[in-house]
Amino acid sequence: MKLLTGLVMCGIIVNVSGAGAADLPSVERGQKLFASDKLGTSGKSCATCHKDGKELNVASTTSDVDLAGIINGCIAGPLKGKPLDPESSDMKSLLQYLKSIAVTGK
Ligand code: HEC
Repeated sequence: MKLLTGLVMCGIIVNVSGAGAADLPSVERGQKLFASDKLGTSGKSCATCHKDGKELNVASTTSDVDLAGIINGCIAGPLKGKPLDPESSDMKSLLQYLKSIAVTGK
């Protein structure tokens, strides 16, 4: 059942990726990705280790390129997932989300 849910979720993500305007990066999308265990295969999400992201203030002082590298390190490592294309909407959404929580501290 868990696997099935995963497959359905993947289908939705793939569909959204092909949907043009719906593919725009957003903080909300980044927040969902951060809490989703679908970025990897280990059943963990970013939030598993980073909780609400409080300790990620580094996002406000790190360039997008470097931050994307760090994020991909966490995806390829603990999440056992496939690194995201730095230009992808998913990665841009994660960057936007991390920067938004780094600034507000929430
Ligand atoms: C299994 C636990 C784990 C998971 C899951 C995880 N991380 Fe990490 N992450 C770490 C550890 C450990 C570090 C290094 C901590 C440090 O040096 O402060 C780190 C560092 C980072 C940093 C740099 C923070 C800093 O202060 O240097 C960012 C940004 C980050 N992770 C984002 C993410 C994102 C986004 C995800 C989801 C795609 C994610 N992490 C998933 C454990 C995890």
